Amino acid sequence: MYGSVEDVIRSSIQEQGQITFAEFMEKALYGPGGGYYTKASPIGTSGDYYTSPSTHPIFGGLISVQLFQMWQLMGRPKPFTIVEVGSGNGLLKRDLTQYLQYLPEDFSNNVEYVCIDKSEQSKIERNTHRKSISYSDIAEYQGLGIEGCVLSNELIDSFPVHRVQMKKGVLQELYVTLREGVFVEKGGALSTQELNAHFDQPGIKLNEGHVFEVNLNACRWIKDVSRILKRGYIITVDYGGVAGEIYSESKSQGTLTCFYRHVQTNNPYLHIGNQDITSQVNYTTLTKCGLGQGFVNKGYLSQREFLTNLGLPYFLRLLQAMDIDSHTKLANRFSMLDLVSAEGFGDFKVLIQGKNVSNAALWCRQLGFEEMPVLKELPIPMLTESHMPLLEGKYPHVRLELPDTWM
Ligand SMILES: C[S@@+](CC[C@H](N)C(=O)[O-])C[C@H]1O[C@@H](n2cnc3c(N)ncnc32)[C@H](O)[C@@H]1O
Repeated sequence: MYGSVEDVIRSSIQEQGQITFAEFMEKALYGPGGGYYTKASPIGTSGDYYTSPSTHPIFGGLISVQLFQMWQLMGRPKPFTIVEVGSGNGLLKRDLTQYLQYLPEDFSNNVEYVCIDKSEQSKIERNTHRKSISYSDIAEYQGLGIEGCVLSNELIDSFPVHRVQMKKGVLQELYVTLREGVFVEKGGALSTQELNAHFDQPGIKLNEGHVFEVNLNACRWIKDVSRILKRGYIITVDYGGVAGEIYSESKSQGTLTCFYRHVQTNNPYLHIGNQDITSQVNYTTLTKCGLGQGFVNKGYLSQREFLTNLGLPYFLRLLQAMDIDSHTKLANRFSMLDLVSAEGFGDFKVLIQGKNVSNAALWCRQLGFEEMPVLKELPIPMLTESHMPLLEGKYPHVRLELPDTWM
C-alpha cells in the first residue's frame, strides 16, 4: 500500500537525498499513491483545464479529413491504423471515428484505431469504434510495422522534464530536495550527459542564471513511434515552438506551467498529485530526432493554419446557413472559433512528419479547401454534452434566444 503521492515523493527524497525534477514530475503525475493522471478525468468543466478535443468535435472531424488524404497518398493501405497516444478520456477518438461515417467507405471500413494512455481513468469512450483496441504504454503495443498515422494532442507537454540552470558558465541540474520539511530546489552536477547534448541546437543562447526544461522523453518517444510505424505519418499537436523560442530571453525562468481548477501557476510544489504540470514542447527536438529515425518534416504550422486550410471557414459558413435555434448556432460558432483564436488554441503548433511517404503536399498546408471535393459532402459535427459549454462559461446570460442579427 502507498501513502499519498506527496508521501511517496518525500520518502524518495529521504532515501536519495535529492531527486531530479523529472523524477518528481513523473511521480506527481503518474506515480503510485494518486499521481495526477491516475485519478478522475482532469479535463473539462469539473477538471482543471480543457483541450481541443473537448472544445468542439470539428477538431476530430477535420483531422479525419486530413487522414483520408494521407490514406489516399499512401496508396490506400488496408488496414490504415491510427494510433492515438495520450488519448485521455477518448473524446478525440470518439469524434474522429464517428466522423469517418461521412468519408468514403473504402477508407472508413479499413480504419483501425488504437488508443494508448498511461492513465487508468481514460476509459470513457475507448470502445466506440468497432475496430478499436487500447493499451497503457506504447511499449506494450506489438503492432510492429503498421501503416497509418500516430496522432497525439497535448501528449508531449505532459512528459516529465529535467530542469537545468546556467551558473558561472556551466550547466547545472536543479534537483528537488527537502529543507525542514519544505520542498526546495538545489543545483548540482548533471544527472546525465544527454542534457548537455540536448543544447546542441541552432538558435539557443544559454544566458547566465536562466532556467531551462529538457524533455528527454520526447526523443525516446519518436524512437518508439519509429519502431511501430513502417510507413506513414506522425501528427503532433501541442503548445510550444522551435528551440530559439522555447529557450529565449523572455522565458528566463523556463516554461513550466501548472493547472489547478482552471487556475494557472508556475509552482509545481503546490497541490502535489492534484494539479497538472506541463512544459512547452520543443519542436526542434522532435524534428531533429525524427530525421534520425527516417521521418521527414511534412509541415509545421499553427493550429489556426492547420484547421483553416482543412476547411474550418467552410464549416462556419455552413453553420451560419443552418436552420437551427440561435443559441445552438452561437454556442457551436463560439467553440469552433476557440480552436483557432489566440486566446484559445490557435497558436498551438501542429507538426507532421512522414516516413516512406509521397512528396505530395498535404491539404492542411495550403489554403485550398474550396477545391477539396470531399468537403462538399460533409456535415458539421455539433457540440455534445461531452464537450465544454464554453459559451455558457464565458457569457452565462446567453441562455436566452438571440435575435438573428446577432449571428
Ligand atoms: C494533457 S492530457 C491530454 C489528453 C487528450 N489527448 C486531450 O487532448 O484531451 C495528456 C495525456 O497523456 C497521457 N500520457 C502521458 N504520458 C504518456 C505516455 N508516455 N504514454 C501514454 N500516455 C501518456 C496522460 O495520461 C494524459 O491522459
